[in-house]
Amino acid sequence: MSAEYAVTLEPSGHVLRVLAGERVLDAARRLGFEVPHSCRNGNCEICAALLLEGSMRYKGQTISSGEVMTCLCEPLSDCRLHWDKILAPGELLVHSLSCQVLALSALGAGVTRVQLRAPAGKKLRYHAGQYLLLEKPDGEQAAFSIASAPHHGRELELHIQVRDSASQHLLEHLYSNTLVNVQLPFGDCHLAELPAAPLVLIAAGTGMAQMHSLIEHCRAQGFAHPVHVYWGARSPQDFYQLDAWRDWQGVPNLTLHQVVSEAQPDDHWQGRQGLLFEAVREDFPDLSVPQVYASGSPNMVYATLDGLVAAGLSPSQMRADVFAYAPRD
Ligand code: FES
Repeated sequence: MSAEYAVTLEPSGHVLRVLAGERVLDAARRLGFEVPHSCRNGNCEICAALLLEGSMRYKGQTISSGEVMTCLCEPLSDCRLHWDKILAPGELLVHSLSCQVLALSALGAGVTRVQLRAPAGKKLRYHAGQYLLLEKPDGEQAAFSIASAPHHGRELELHIQVRDSASQHLLEHLYSNTLVNVQLPFGDCHLAELPAAPLVLIAAGTGMAQMHSLIEHCRAQGFAHPVHVYWGARSPQDFYQLDAWRDWQGVPNLTLHQVVSEAQPDDHWQGRQGLLFEAVREDFPDLSVPQVYASGSPNMVYATLDGLVAAGLSPSQMRADVFAYAPRD
């Protein structure tokens, strides 16, 4: 087996496995990274990087620091390289847009559907399941899952729930303005590539926005594996109206489950009761196969993870944004 060296990129933290005798730029492209390059012979300098640690063969010499053209340098040990504007496979550049506020509609349970339209001529690039940052009246940003899917073109859909005065102000801002600034895309809990396995999508409350995007994307791509959607709420009144739910009921490989955790006798709830992970465990005696996506509060997501891992799921089968923004020890 030929030797390989780990080249850690700053500031992204991505690690390239570069074969002995291979140039860094060639390795990055072989591994599916998007990297700036042109001449590939050291002239244009577009592929420049800074060697921070380790040693490399470069222009006939062994060097351990300084600027290098990645199209010419070969690692001689594990290295650390400052190399900006490199996109890993599936990674997209974050961009800012001023979007038109197209429509706001109440969906019940305190949730409003917000429809935005990106300006003509601007490319809206994101993966199904990612989120955006919406600029609030005070200039701060708030994160919202994108409920639409990339094939919806310039239109973006968000599901915003009024939980406090800040979210109330944000909605008032959207009602009274025709343009709003957003930044996107963010998050690695997405479907840049469809898995060759069934999907289990688990959402609490407006976590359904993220699942809405994943489901619409799967449908547009002709995803043929089974998709099971578990949508949880404390009481039946906490489910908001989701127009797509009716459409989805006719999709052969899509199964929908609404699960209420604290139903009262007065609710006359005839559907499933309990916690979301309990419903999944009942339906999947063998959890070794599906890919699981979860969206909700950190408590809900980690309870789901623990409940499913105890029943045989490997943690590597489950993805959630919570793992990045609220990591556990
Ligand atoms: S690609 Fe032109 S210098 Fe490397």
